[in-house]
Amino acid sequence: MLIGVPKEIKKHENRVALLPGGVVELKKHGHNIIIEKDAGISSGFPDELYVNAGAEIIDTAEEIWAKADMIMKVKEPIEKEYPLMRKGQIIFTYFHFAASQELTEAVVKSGCIAIAYETVEKSDGSLPLLVPMSEVAGRMAAQEGAKFLEKVMGGRGVLLAGIPGVKPGNVMVLGGGVVGVNAAKIVAGMGANVYIYDISVQRLRYLDDVMPKNITTMFSSHASICEMLPLMDLVIGAVLIPGAKAPKLIKRDMLKLMKPGAVIVDVAIDQGGCIETAKPTTHDEPTYMVDGVLHYCVANMPGAVPYTSTIGLTNVTMPYAIQIANKGWVKAIKENRELERGLNVANGIIVYKDVADAFDFEYTPVTKFLASV
Ligand SMILES: NC(=O)c1ccc[n+]([C@@H]2O[C@H](COP(=O)([O-])OP(=O)(O)OC[C@H]3O[C@@H](n4cnc5c(N)ncnc54)[C@H](O)[C@@H]3O)[C@@H](O)[C@H]2O)c1
Repeated sequence: MLIGVPKEIKKHENRVALLPGGVVELKKHGHNIIIEKDAGISSGFPDELYVNAGAEIIDTAEEIWAKADMIMKVKEPIEKEYPLMRKGQIIFTYFHFAASQELTEAVVKSGCIAIAYETVEKSDGSLPLLVPMSEVAGRMAAQEGAKFLEKVMGGRGVLLAGIPGVKPGNVMVLGGGVVGVNAAKIVAGMGANVYIYDISVQRLRYLDDVMPKNITTMFSSHASICEMLPLMDLVIGAVLIPGAKAPKLIKRDMLKLMKPGAVIVDVAIDQGGCIETAKPTTHDEPTYMVDGVLHYCVANMPGAVPYTSTIGLTNVTMPYAIQIANKGWVKAIKENRELERGLNVANGIIVYKDVADAFDFEYTPVTKFLASV
């Protein structure tokens, strides 16, 4: 199979879908790789590494899209890329269809085979191609929170670690999933007092067993959040209700309970945010102030650390990419239920219910569709 890797063109997207090591791996299985000039440069992987690995460098994205049997990307195709998608061409990337009717319509119209990273799903319901990005965002939330607590950055001038003779900072982490745990571990490692909130008692029990002593587990309720807010220097929002908008756990009138210059990092902003006053920001202008509380709400946090994010992402996408390339998409999907969950649109037919429901489009169950191909 000929696999094509275009350079990402969405603003602030510096990741690349394939590493030089991935090229070697795919070539071992008999596949050829074409990659756009400078596609890996922002992640720290220059063209010569790809050439040495056996890939061919191509000057334009158009040529890659025109030739490749399978396109590997990171972000969803954007408008400029819509006319390049072809009938029968496999596109393996993050799509987030429910967020864009135009993208969904363009993919349906193209007749391509859209396998979405974000819906590849294991039998326990976990989403293996989302986990590394949540790990990155959680760890970054700790780092960004600590940074924006500095006075010059707009925060209240607290060092989370404290020093001998001066108490450390207090951190509230809302949600004890992948983002929350990663955030809590890092701030706890700095020496802060951490309070991690969840609505799953089973999850809290587990966290209580494995987390260090400076992390206290809290059952999440309006009362328990209000009780602790006045003590907090940093609040990290990390809740998720799958398939739904994030619940607003901190309403605007609760900000007055917080100290002036306290910082909120709402990682859940990509699902609407769990803080009522959160609105999406960018790496260019990451923060804004509401009622004396500094808000950081960057919707694509992993984009700031492309080296780590690219390696983390490709570590988990590669095994699936190899299966698709070796078997072809039909056989690969029929033989692997995790990949079957990843199929969203094929031959102009929407086979993922949530995507069809988001825009009231026609839906064909994937099993019915697969029986016809
Ligand atoms: N901004 C970014 O760049 C970025 C990057 C990665 C992930 N995210 C987002 O971060 C959020 C968290 O992702 P995750 O991977 O940790 O999800 P997860 O499913 O692993 O964890 C979510 C946790 O929230 C808990 N929860 C649900 N309702 C709650 C409530 N009312 N109070 C407290 N806890 C509650 C759940 O029990 C679960 O443990 C998601 O919205 C995800 O899309 C954002």
